[in-house]
Amino acid sequence: MNTAPERTGMNGIDQPGFEAALSRRAGEVERVLDALLGLGLLSGEVARPRELMAAIRHGVLGGGKRLRPFLVVESAALFDAGGEAALRVAAALECVHCYSLIHDDLPAMDDDDMRRGRPTVHRAFDEATAILAGDALLTFAFDIVADEATALPGETRARLVTKLARAAGMGGMAGGQALDLAAGRNRPDEAGIVRLQAMKTGALIRFACEAGAEIGRATEAERERLAEFGSAIGLAFQLADDLLDATSDAAALGKAAGKDEDAGKATLVSLHGIDWTRRQLDGLVAQAGELLEPFGDRAALLRAAARFVAARTS
Ligand code: IPE
Ligand code: IPE
Ligand code: MG
Ligand code: MG
Ligand code: MG
Repeated sequence: MNTAPERTGMNGIDQPGFEAALSRRAGEVERVLDALLGLGLLSGEVARPRELMAAIRHGVLGGGKRLRPFLVVESAALFDAGGEAALRVAAALECVHCYSLIHDDLPAMDDDDMRRGRPTVHRAFDEATAILAGDALLTFAFDIVADEATALPGETRARLVTKLARAAGMGGMAGGQALDLAAGRNRPDEAGIVRLQAMKTGALIRFACEAGAEIGRATEAERERLAEFGSAIGLAFQLADDLLDATSDAAALGKAAGKDEDAGKATLVSLHGIDWTRRQLDGLVAQAGELLEPFGDRAALLRAAARFVAARTS
């Protein structure tokens, strides 16, 4: 299934231009991640075990849309900020995201064998190594942001660390994963599903957009606007993920499809069906676009990102 043609032309902005920008930013963040995840030691580190590093590199490098890093960098660009510091914050967020995927795929969670078209980390290595790869990536993310090499004022780095911790932790992504696991048993209602999705997926995407505003020293009102934009596209992102799980296949997705229904997982797709979900996605894209109105043409790439999130095919 491919819904891209009817959706991409919708607001008359060049979607191929967006895809080129996404791929350019993906290359930039890949370069930063590759350098950060090498065998060279940082001060205070004793050794980086080869097998662990191979598992980490397998889980992080060479795949993924790199949407969250894109959102960090392009949100910062709205305020004429960016450069290497934004890329390092983007790389840190991608480390948290990749850790969440490595752990999400574990046998104790979704028990998946394929991710980004390759064996999952616990299949390519082993479960214990996958758990440790995730632990190491989560910890390293905070190292990257807090490090003076991230050329931002100390206060900004501290605020980013706090916000990232809250987005990733018990009241954010990890908490959302806990609610998601419980959802197989206790069948949450619509509000319950929206809340768990806002946590497990929305929180990191919201952080991405807020982080850009933070890096760009935006006003409080602008930060709030970017955070709300992040929440809208975060919800759209998980709705699209659930839609793809129900309508696409492993070859297109690079990961298993049909898992949610098999697992009896409560999603908005299972609750309301495919057509309702598509209409909901259109509504969220419109809402995201409205939130960006004050930024005018400068926000064209972020607007295109919202459309991409809803219409993506992988
Ligand atoms: C998949 O995220 C997990 C969800 C939050 C739904 P992505 O679809 O962004 O995965 P990659 O990084 O592109 O592989
Ligand atoms: C995972 O949601 C969200 C996180 C990893 C936090 P899913 O379980 O639906 O993601 P996929 O479909 O495995 O990528
Ligand atoms: Mg899951
Ligand atoms: Mg999963
Ligand atoms: Mg999914």
